[in-house]
Amino acid sequence: MVVLSIVLAVTTFSACSKLLPSMIDPSQGLCGPVSLSSAQTIFFSKGNDQFFANRTAATGLGPFFVATGCGSCHSSDNRGHPFTILTRFGQSDTTGNTFLNEGAPQLGTFNLPGYTPEQIPAGASSTKLIAPITAGVGFLEAVPDSEILALAAANENNPDGVRGHPNYNTLPANITPLNGAIQRSDGKYICRFGRKGAVHSLIQQVADAYNHDMGITSSFLPYNPYNYLDQTDPASAPPAAPEVTSDDFNSVVFYVTCLQTPVQRNPNDPTVQRGNLVFTQIGCGTCHQQTLTTGNSPIAALAYQTFNPFTDLLVHDMGAGLDDGYTEGNAKTSEWRTAPLWGLGLAPQVQGGYTYLLHDGRAHSIEEAIRLHGGEATASANRFNSLGQTDKNALLTFLKSL
Ligand code: HEC
Ligand code: HEC
Repeated sequence: MVVLSIVLAVTTFSACSKLLPSMIDPSQGLCGPVSLSSAQTIFFSKGNDQFFANRTAATGLGPFFVATGCGSCHSSDNRGHPFTILTRFGQSDTTGNTFLNEGAPQLGTFNLPGYTPEQIPAGASSTKLIAPITAGVGFLEAVPDSEILALAAANENNPDGVRGHPNYNTLPANITPLNGAIQRSDGKYICRFGRKGAVHSLIQQVADAYNHDMGITSSFLPYNPYNYLDQTDPASAPPAAPEVTSDDFNSVVFYVTCLQTPVQRNPNDPTVQRGNLVFTQIGCGTCHQQTLTTGNSPIAALAYQTFNPFTDLLVHDMGAGLDDGYTEGNAKTSEWRTAPLWGLGLAPQVQGGYTYLLHDGRAHSIEEAIRLHGGEATASANRFNSLGQTDKNALLTFLKSL
């Protein structure tokens, strides 16, 4: 038993430590699990290895892909780097995004030998996205729809003009609604993952990631996106078996689901506490909700937990400056899901000592990210700009403690 736990301790963090040796301490890194049984820890560890493994053509990669493994973009489970930015394309309309039938929705940045590099078709709109933080996503998934609806309702009379709404989207054929999900009369469900909050569940997110980011089929998405490019090509038949086995796939879903929430550093520091107060006073917390609560969950450690993600899981109009001309679900071109702020202070550790914030990494500091807030966030961002230096510094110290 002693031997087993030593082996587990090593394998649990090995993939992270390979990427970044300094991240083995869980209070400084984001790779550790919530409290799990021994059997669950073994499955988490398998998912950890799969998440950081690199695929090759022999293990299903391609023919088009953006990166070779989840860990290439989600290094250390924190925010991604512009090196691995992805381009998504489709055709915007007022009801959502009708994806073009040519390789969409994601541009294969790389291709296996023998394939012509992919291009965005004429008439398509596109957007560029860097990876959001994955630590804590299991907690976000366990927030009941009713709580998300209550947050949207609380926005209705907001004096700053904050008017967040859930992103309602249609579920793909093989995706089962989350337990207790509320279906709207038009058949759509509340979604919460992705930069525009258009993805319903972690299973859907992981199936999309394998398929669109790596060209790997699963039982949820058995066709390769390439197949739609040229249905007459012999390569367009779906592979006889999914390129990722169900067990490997499920272990990766389990891995992301069970990632611990980022731990705040120095919560009792008086400057951090002052900054937290300023954050609330100037209205940042209306969207970046400090506290959410999970409902029931088959994973005991995720059930009925109060946690601090700093998001409301709603999408907000962020103004013309952040309008990418691209829609997803019912999120309009200028609407984005409130980015969770947890793990913010640890991001430079995985971004080469620099900072890349907002959906496409365009903001090179926390202050720049706030200055780029427009639309519904204008009043709050203006209040930030008129803060005295002491309060501004306290707020930034607080944000860096997350
Ligand atoms: C090419 C880079 C890249 C790769 C490879 C990649 N991701 Fe992502 N991931 C992203 C981006 C970008 C987003 C945001 C997508 C969006 O806005 O729809 C994302 C979103 C997510 C989210 C949702 C986080 C949230 O809060 O919305 C999860 C979970 C996730 N990825 C897990 C995975 C897993 C598991 C894999 C491997 C199977 C993977 N990703 C592979 C870039 C990547
Ligand atoms: C109306 C809602 C709203 C308000 C108010 C708001 N934000 Fe945001 N915030 C967002 C959204 C939405 C994003 C994501 C935008 C994107 O991805 O382009 C975001 C992104 C951020 C980011 C970047 C996070 C990352 O990981 O990239 C920071 C930092 C941030 N906000 C801080 C603040 C602060 C500080 C305040 C108060 C001055 C504030 N926000 C007020 C909605 C809001």
